[in-house]
Amino acid sequence: MRRIAFLRSIEIQQTKPFLKALEGRFREDGIEAKLFFTDGECGPDDFPGESELVPGDISADELAKKVIDWDADGVISLSIADENALRDAVVKRRLETVGIPMTAHSLAAVTLTGNKWETKRLLERHGLDTPPGLLVDSDILAGRGLRIPAYQDAVLIQTADMGYPVISKPLWDCMGAGMVSIPDAAALERHLADDEHHGNFILEQCVSGEICSVEVVGADGEYVVQPPVWQGPAELGPVFNFGRLRYVAPREPHDQDFAPVAEKLKGLCREIGFTGSVGLDMIYENGIYQILEINPRVTGTTTPSIASTDFNTYDVLLSILDGTWPERPEPREGIKRVCLQFPVRALSAEFVADATRELDLVRAQTLTIDGVEYPNIVITCELDDRAALPAKLESLRQRHAFTDRSFLRQIAVAVGAVAARTDTNTDTEDGNG
Ligand SMILES: Nc1ncnc2c1ncn2[C@@H]1O[C@H](COP(=O)(O)OP(=O)(O)O)[C@@H](O)[C@H]1O
Ligand SMILES: [Mg+2]
Repeated sequence: MRRIAFLRSIEIQQTKPFLKALEGRFREDGIEAKLFFTDGECGPDDFPGESELVPGDISADELAKKVIDWDADGVISLSIADENALRDAVVKRRLETVGIPMTAHSLAAVTLTGNKWETKRLLERHGLDTPPGLLVDSDILAGRGLRIPAYQDAVLIQTADMGYPVISKPLWDCMGAGMVSIPDAAALERHLADDEHHGNFILEQCVSGEICSVEVVGADGEYVVQPPVWQGPAELGPVFNFGRLRYVAPREPHDQDFAPVAEKLKGLCREIGFTGSVGLDMIYENGIYQILEINPRVTGTTTPSIASTDFNTYDVLLSILDGTWPERPEPREGIKRVCLQFPVRALSAEFVADATRELDLVRAQTLTIDGVEYPNIVITCELDDRAALPAKLESLRQRHAFTDRSFLRQIAVAVGAVAARTDTNTDTEDGNG
């Protein structure tokens, strides 16, 4: 038996059902798996192996020691968010010294892509689009260290040159934490005068369009770019996408416009030498994908990507570890079916039973984010069955009122059953259309 440890920092249930699907491979390959996780619970149904809860603030050295004490032959990082990807990159370095291989990005890759400003430079070097931005040094701004009296004026002028509105973003962090939307010069002056900045930050031009994310997975020069996962319109500030419909579906001209971006992304991945999965956040408008950031880890995009392509990220992570990537799974790109993830009001047993029978239900579960519960479902629909999906959902809605009618309209547009023009926001009858 080979012992493989998995490191996880958010609830393991978000990997369902695709990590659990490796159970057969574990048996065939003689793998004994153990999950070391810091958040939530792990029941017998949640992970194909044993599990151990470890403290959320565990250090890289303590985590490395846990893995070594368990006698692991290899380790796979499934950690979220960037600070935990960094912890795992440090674990990887520690384990290298004792000869335990690990599927995780290098320290160099995580420190580069964890930092949104460095990421912008990287994207530009690869000919990819990213919104214009300005790096602000919060120490100089606050008069700490070197005195540069004209610094604030310089920032104000350069931002005006770039054009309002802008978004102020911390270099690290995720889920929109610490982001502030700045409509004009007066708001920027107030923002610069604030001494609560958590380190340096970026003032980035606010762009309009549709938010989407994409997962790229691979190692050693061979990368697969999954299809974009669409998340609706961008706003003047961060968007909380667990309250939204996310979907994967064939779209034109979006897919054609994405093809050259995907090629450039592969070049970028080869240069950085990513080992595993990365998730990019983008905004698409007028044929252009503006890339906002690269998350050096699995993300919320992983599940819909796998569901729509059958190309299982977790399987790849395991093959990278055992040296069988890119033989298995064979690299393959393209949408096989539509995938939709959206919030529901509640997950009653009756609703889940009917949804399981009448839809291709990938998962029905409640995510807990910052202590708040978000019941949601992930479904798929074969490409040939798209036209029939809206009626199936409407029939379920009449019996269970499981979601707002506005979501059903958005879904009908997403799967191409009705034209986008009919989806103007007239649907307020459910309260939060
Ligand atoms: N330049 C921008 N223009 C418009 N919206 C943006 C911009 N940058 C970020 N956002 C919004 O904020 C969200 C979070 O931004 P992102 O750069 O992905 O950082 P993170 O996810 O690490 O917090 C995006 O998904 C988007 O909704
Ligand atoms: Mg993001």
